[in-house]
Amino acid sequence: MSKITVFTLFTAAALAAGAVELKSPDGKLALDFDLSDGGRPTYSLTFDNKTVVKPSTLGLELVNDTDLIEGFEIKGHEVTTFDETWQPVWGETSHIRNHYNELLVELAQPATGRLMNLRFRLYDDGLGFRYEFPLQNNLVYFVVKEEHTQFAMNGDHTAWWIAGDYDTQEYDYTESRLSEIRNLSAGSISSNESQTQFSPTGVQTSLQMKTDDGLYINLHEAALVDYSCMHLNLNDSTMVFESWLTPDAVGNKAYMQAPTHTPWRTVMVSDDARDMLSSNLILNLNEPCAYDDTSWIKPVKYVGVWWEMIGHGKEWSYTYDLPSVKLDTLDYSKTKPHGRHPANTENVKRYIDFAAEHGFDQVLVEGWNVGWEDWFGHSKDYVFDFVTPYPDFDLEGLNAYAAEKGVKLMMHHETSGSVRNYERHLEEAYNLMNKYGYNSVKSGYVGNMIPRGEHHYGQWLNNHYLYAVTEAAKHKIMVNAHEAVRPTGLCRTYPNLIGNESARGSEYESFAGNKPSHTTVLPFTRLQGGPMDYTPGLFEMDMKKVNPTSSGHVNSTLARQLALYVTMYSPLQMAADVPDVYERFMDAFQFIKDVAVDWDDSKYLEAEPGRYIVAARKAKGTDNWFVGCTASEHGHETTIPLDFLDKGRKYEATIYADAPDAHYLTNPQAYTITRKKVTDKSKLKLKAAPGGGFAISIIPVD
Ligand code: NOJ
Ligand code: CA
Repeated sequence: MSKITVFTLFTAAALAAGAVELKSPDGKLALDFDLSDGGRPTYSLTFDNKTVVKPSTLGLELVNDTDLIEGFEIKGHEVTTFDETWQPVWGETSHIRNHYNELLVELAQPATGRLMNLRFRLYDDGLGFRYEFPLQNNLVYFVVKEEHTQFAMNGDHTAWWIAGDYDTQEYDYTESRLSEIRNLSAGSISSNESQTQFSPTGVQTSLQMKTDDGLYINLHEAALVDYSCMHLNLNDSTMVFESWLTPDAVGNKAYMQAPTHTPWRTVMVSDDARDMLSSNLILNLNEPCAYDDTSWIKPVKYVGVWWEMIGHGKEWSYTYDLPSVKLDTLDYSKTKPHGRHPANTENVKRYIDFAAEHGFDQVLVEGWNVGWEDWFGHSKDYVFDFVTPYPDFDLEGLNAYAAEKGVKLMMHHETSGSVRNYERHLEEAYNLMNKYGYNSVKSGYVGNMIPRGEHHYGQWLNNHYLYAVTEAAKHKIMVNAHEAVRPTGLCRTYPNLIGNESARGSEYESFAGNKPSHTTVLPFTRLQGGPMDYTPGLFEMDMKKVNPTSSGHVNSTLARQLALYVTMYSPLQMAADVPDVYERFMDAFQFIKDVAVDWDDSKYLEAEPGRYIVAARKAKGTDNWFVGCTASEHGHETTIPLDFLDKGRKYEATIYADAPDAHYLTNPQAYTITRKKVTDKSKLKLKAAPGGGFAISIIPVD
């Protein structure tokens, strides 16, 4: 049931100038808006009378046009309130309340006769605001040279940040003071990433901070549509962040046509870290679902032909032969297979059998289609066409085999950043999926963008990612895009966007290893905008054992790998390791089989960025609860009350914990499994090892 209330609290006729104040529904947050210094729009924000954002100016610099920065007058303003409860197609909770007070400030720039509005929404958990450009005569087409949105911090806060980059977010987070970013920035980027660092104090959003007096502040954006992605550049003498948009190939930042608006800029704030994780501010700032029928959108638990390549050193390509002929004339059946190609019919059948036996929905197969011989180089005339299988992959037969066993294959489209090529083939590629029964695709954008000069996070590419999602919807296809722009809550509007990567996933455990604290930070940062295809479930930590040439190490205990299915919320979850490894640990694997991927309720029991997260979730349509804890290298000791359980009911808890001598580096596979009868009065005393965690399933027995 959704309840909507909108009413005007106050309307002012043409106010010449003068501060306007807006409060959050609970009164704790206060926003002040005013014009300063020759008509510059300026805002500030407090929480419980503590400064969150000091007076900060707003404006846009235009190409070959008077800037929208100063010389403004307030024409009028309006305050309204809004309260609704909506139901996501999939999510952490079955219902989401969207309750805010809104201030619309109408500005005029008399010298140019142009209009610009600022819309502020103040929630109990933070602020969203955006620039709006109404239909008008003197501002129709315009090009943004830079957006100058400031976020003036009130001190040298602690931050969990990754360096600014127009093309990748696949970094480990650094925890430091804001004043230390400059010195640490270059060293925070490892050689694995193709970096385009634009400033030594540039960082990406979502940026999580903590003040010395215990406020948690998060800066991000919501509903990034037809605009370029915002980075933040810090002035580290004043601690003022300013927006820094991703440029296009000629250096412009955004192409606009009124009536239009920018994405929302967001400031989440609380004195309790758990509120950062349970906040729905980003989703709420997005538009309601754009589709009438969403019955075809389903959460997915999957396995796949994937870690064999990423972790075990096998190949996506079928052959090393590289005849320099075009794709459409290349006869792969005449090339020599190199025998290291796991996406072959026989092997894929093993995965299908494994998925069917253990209740997985889908099997991802990467390396099924021709084109991989040159996916990084683009030096040849041929690229992927997304419809032609290698000779050893029986497209029709395997889909039929899977269907017989109640499993689906998951499609894979690696575009290698050749986006026009992808768009040319998209309709045919989606048609092929419909023909054989695929309903989900993992897509990817590895490498420098083609056309050259465009960036992964620019307006042009952002429009492409959304185009791929809305076209997929016409085919009832769900999308999980890797290397695409980091999410900003668009999954509310387009819920067939069931996943993204857009951060450093568990694949890096095989390359360089992730920091043990990584998964205690991601929910505060990357996950604010939407779910991540993190691909947990790695049970073999010593990569040398499966790939003698690897120096990788999975920096996690096995019990923590289980916990990630709960702490890293996503309606799309992979069991990333290979069947042979799971077969050695079937008792622990049981948790991955049991855990849900869609929830009626979620509670964050404990949280501190960079240290630990303990979450409890109630599986959709059941009374089953699942608890997960992920800890940093410091481990975590805790006693958790199970007071979220139904009063008076009896449950059985199965606790998958680190063994007393477990350690992510020296003894990661040491775990214990214990069963206990529990009620809402029970308290569980638990301990996560360094780099460890625990996972618990709690099932009613009465
Ligand atoms: C990078 C993706 O993150 C990974 O999951 C995928 O296997 C490769 N690209 C190949 O597409
Ligand atoms: Ca990736």
